[in-house]
Amino acid sequence: MENGLIRGDTLSVLRELPADSFDAGVTSPPYNKGERHQGWLVPKVTYHASSDRRAEDVYQAEQIEVLNELYRVTRPGGSFFYNHKLRWDRGWLQHPYAWVSKTDWVLRQEIIWQRKIAGNIRGWRFWQVEERIYWLYKPRLEEAAAPIGTELESRHAKMTSIWEIRPERKLDWAPDPFPLEIPARCIYAILGDGQGRVIDPYAGSGTTLVAAKLLGYDYLGIDISEEYIEKARERLANAAVEQVRLDKEIEKHRVGLTFKQRKERGLTKPRTRRPRLI
Ligand SMILES: C[S@@+](CC[C@H](N)C(=O)[O-])C[C@H]1O[C@@H](n2cnc3c(N)ncnc32)[C@H](O)[C@@H]1O
Repeated sequence: MENGLIRGDTLSVLRELPADSFDAGVTSPPYNKGERHQGWLVPKVTYHASSDRRAEDVYQAEQIEVLNELYRVTRPGGSFFYNHKLRWDRGWLQHPYAWVSKTDWVLRQEIIWQRKIAGNIRGWRFWQVEERIYWLYKPRLEEAAAPIGTELESRHAKMTSIWEIRPERKLDWAPDPFPLEIPARCIYAILGDGQGRVIDPYAGSGTTLVAAKLLGYDYLGIDISEEYIEKARERLANAAVEQVRLDKEIEKHRVGLTFKQRKERGLTKPRTRRPRLI
């Protein structure tokens, strides 16, 4: 399979791909936000070649199918990172866990993406500035009863499950692009300095693919919009200009001393406080 992008409906394209052919993946699907709820702070997201307003049950059923196809095309021991958020539909909470938990994947972790800013400030509830990233795992055959997987190297595991990353500026040609740091952190934590093949089934502006390319992995993106595919191809051709930004994320994955080494050297003990004089 060559590196690149395929234009088409993701479910149809995924069904044609061979099983067990990817090591990792990252995506942010259309959220089915319903184009009627427009925020005033951040411009509303609309896609070039698809609608983001469908019956919620149809949407969730399709996401389950897509996630199960992604499970099939991922090799045992592989991981997929699925970005979504909590939405409210006429007062009813639509939590991504509701459908993620119905897929074949093992849910390994729920990561909070602390964006610090988000679109719609209204008084129905406190200002929602976070999204979720579901780390999904495909167990190896021998792990069927206890799908624990391999431990992250400590340089990755030292990061917390709350990722403070500012959202990307809206491009004039692409809806809701990822900040490069999100896919870079996900795939680098899984594949490290080794090799691997990465998939993004809703590739949009191609951010996941740029991260994969700069990290030296193989990649495949799928998107329904010919326009986004063309622009993402141009972006990939010029990926080198994003190297400095990617390197800054990779720098965060270095550790001077591991927690174990710090403990052995007595560096983890709490500092004793001098008693306050009253
Ligand atoms: C949230 S955007 C992805 C943004 C991407 N993470 C980035 O960094 O630019 C969702 C993408 O899904 C695409 N899309 C929507 N429905 C699709 C479908 N049925 N099959 C393939 N792509 C689809 C849209 O064209 C859009 O580019």
